[in-house]
Amino acid sequence: MSAALETQSAAIINRRMTEDDLVDVAAVEAESYMFPWNAGVFRECIRAGYCCRVLDRDGEIVGYGIMATGAGEAHVLNVCVRADQRGLSAGRGLMEWLLDEARGTGNSWIFLEVRPSNRPALLLYQSLGFTQVGIRRGYYQAIGGREDALVHRLDLNDWLIGRPSHRANDRRRKS
Ligand SMILES: CC(C)(COP(=O)(O)OP(=O)(O)OC[C@H]1O[C@@H](n2cnc3c(N)ncnc32)[C@H](O)[C@@H]1OP(=O)(O)O)[C@@H](O)C(=O)NCCC(=O)NCCS
Repeated sequence: MSAALETQSAAIINRRMTEDDLVDVAAVEAESYMFPWNAGVFRECIRAGYCCRVLDRDGEIVGYGIMATGAGEAHVLNVCVRADQRGLSAGRGLMEWLLDEARGTGNSWIFLEVRPSNRPALLLYQSLGFTQVGIRRGYYQAIGGREDALVHRLDLNDWLIGRPSHRANDRRRKS
């Protein structure tokens, strides 16, 4: 199943990630993070049955999101937009889709971790209503040592499914 998001200039399809996408996904990952996941980590996420989505624009992978769910909670494990596509609302659209999916599949809470140094991601998550609920000390690899993770949480009961950028997804749910 797929859902269409609109950026400023082109339609982007939000669809399920498959193992055929892994070379392209890993390439975006490698250019986006200092300590990237390799293709094998994404493969394990698919095989574990996690919610694995890609943003596909005319066959090009321009972003992806990975989310695990269980025991009434969802956990966003990775959200990434290709560098040349950032600032066009793709990241917000992807996060909104994940929030819709998490709530629509019966989860009450959604969690994620973010580096204190990652201001774009922090602002994105906070703008969606996430609030910081803890710190994992030295959670991430960093140049010359470790970096903390700021643990954020959102009560999905406060999240309204069907924000404007998700009308396509909303239609899917009602059909
Ligand atoms: C974080 C990331 C996914 C955001 O994706 P994006 O498509 O550029 O974000 P959007 O255009 O949807 O912007 C959504 C919000 O994010 C914040 N944001 C995005 N880019 C920002 C920047 N350069 N500076 C400050 N805030 C920024 C803003 O709050 C923005 O809302 P606004 O447009 O109303 O101001 C993207 O920067 C990325 O892939 N980074 C590398 C991977 C990464 O760090 N992932 C998160 C790991 S925790």
